[in-house]
Amino acid sequence: MSKIISVINQKGGVGKTTITFNLAKGLANKGYKVLAIDNDPQGNLTSAFLEDPRNMSADVLDFYNNNYEKIKPQRIDNNLSIIGANIHLSKISDSGLDVIFNLREGLEELKAEFDFVIIDCLPSFGYLNMASLNASDLVLIPTKPAPFALEGLKDLFETIKKARRRFNPKLEILGIVLNLVEGRKTVIGEEIESVLREDYSELVFKTKINRGVVVEESPVESQSVIEYNPRSKHAKQFNQLLDEFLERL
Ligand SMILES: Nc1ncnc2c1ncn2[C@@H]1O[C@H](COP(=O)(O)OP(=O)(O)OP(=O)(O)O)[C@@H](O)[C@H]1O
Ligand SMILES: [Mg+2]
Repeated sequence: MSKIISVINQKGGVGKTTITFNLAKGLANKGYKVLAIDNDPQGNLTSAFLEDPRNMSADVLDFYNNNYEKIKPQRIDNNLSIIGANIHLSKISDSGLDVIFNLREGLEELKAEFDFVIIDCLPSFGYLNMASLNASDLVLIPTKPAPFALEGLKDLFETIKKARRRFNPKLEILGIVLNLVEGRKTVIGEEIESVLREDYSELVFKTKINRGVVVEESPVESQSVIEYNPRSKHAKQFNQLLDEFLERL
């Protein structure tokens, strides 16, 4: 059974794309068939996978234009394919109610070829993210231990509840991943983490990802952290994240 997962948080810059990229690569390297979808007009995930994003051959925009047959996921390697995005996706953002259903319908047949479909979401509460929540079985929520993170999560949980009530009752939360955690402890960081673990208990992954330059550098080389610097502390953390991700399923 394939699982469709939205990596989502309306807050910008918390690590959605970084985690989608590393999870997709990591799961593919473990032998799972993975489809990574860039559902963000910024196209960051597409740029991480493709040296030159102009070589993108499968465009998520075709889902929203009802051209489902046109989409042939682009092979990155044996177990990994992508459907990319670029700035042209932005014109779809608020183009109508159909948008909310296109992704789900388009994936209906396609998903059978994959164990995991992982969708990188954009920082917003707009239609493109409703489309992703509608298409998904699970949500994975990256966050960083920074002021306002907790308020942001409350809003996101409300949105997920609404999505369940209105169009996708089977939607489940896989968990919350703390990213960009400072290597050197800070009072504010510790406090936010402890409140988060109190409020969301089991939903918060045990694994945390520290802030680190290898995490920033590796996608520039189209490599996961594990490929780029397998001996780093961060590679160990991404390995733990993969294990915990699979355990939680
Ligand atoms: N653990 C980390 N250590 C260092 N840099 C990180 C880490 N995680 C993410 N970054 C960097 O922070 C920036 C934001 O990360 P990313 O693009 O993954 O966030 P995002 O949530 O996808 O952002 P957006 O909301 O704009 O889509 C990027 O430059 C990324 O390389
Ligand atoms: Mg992103």
